[in-house]
Amino acid sequence: MTAQKRAAGRAAADLVTSGQTVGLGTGSTVFYVLERLAERIRDEGLEILGVPTSVDTETKARDLGIGLTTLDRVERFHVTIDGADEIDGGYRMIKGGGGALLREKVVASLSDEVVTVVGPDKVVERLGTTFDLPVEVVPFARSACSRRIAGLGGTPAVRGGEDAPYLTDNGNEILDVHFDAGIEDPAALERALDEIPGVVESGLFVGLSHVLVIGHDDGSADVRRRDG
Ligand code: 5RP
Repeated sequence: MTAQKRAAGRAAADLVTSGQTVGLGTGSTVFYVLERLAERIRDEGLEILGVPTSVDTETKARDLGIGLTTLDRVERFHVTIDGADEIDGGYRMIKGGGGALLREKVVASLSDEVVTVVGPDKVVERLGTTFDLPVEVVPFARSACSRRIAGLGGTPAVRGGEDAPYLTDNGNEILDVHFDAGIEDPAALERALDEIPGVVESGLFVGLSHVLVIGHDDGSADVRRRDG
């Protein structure tokens, strides 16, 4: 697992070129992206400006000496590199295992190119079959959102439990939504979730990823580009 993440992260970081503004995703695979970017900054004089998608990534990037700025100072990203919890053949994804889905989606939506870094176990035929869908909701509307989501065929569970809910960097809660047979139409579900008042964002990322980097145990990585 670690070798796969490291291989994917390093291969993706090698796609970055000097002068680029880079969206920095969140998670254990992205850590290896940060590590390799820091190495290249030190050894090759790579010059980049990063925008982190979480407090966790901000802390790690800062500690590694990666130059950072805020979204207020950036209109577009040349590239964003981020992990995923599941990705299908059309590069549609479930994200948010690390709770950073809202900022990750904002940054991905502003990126000329989104590179997704995963191990082979994250590549699935149908989304929702190996991972429950994270949905970020405002705490006030947790129960109302849960009922509406149940109406869409999902079974939501409050991350961390109802008594001690996990809070995102934005102060919101996460509902992890199980779909017994997976998600039949990710784009339609994303739209339906967006229409529920109190839902801030869902972890469905449709049409956002362009490049898929799959890391392997032997340290190699496949770099694939989405058709069309
Ligand atoms: C965080 C995410 C992560 O990209 C996703 O959970 C994958 O993380 P990891 O690389 O640790 O498996 O969406 O919100």
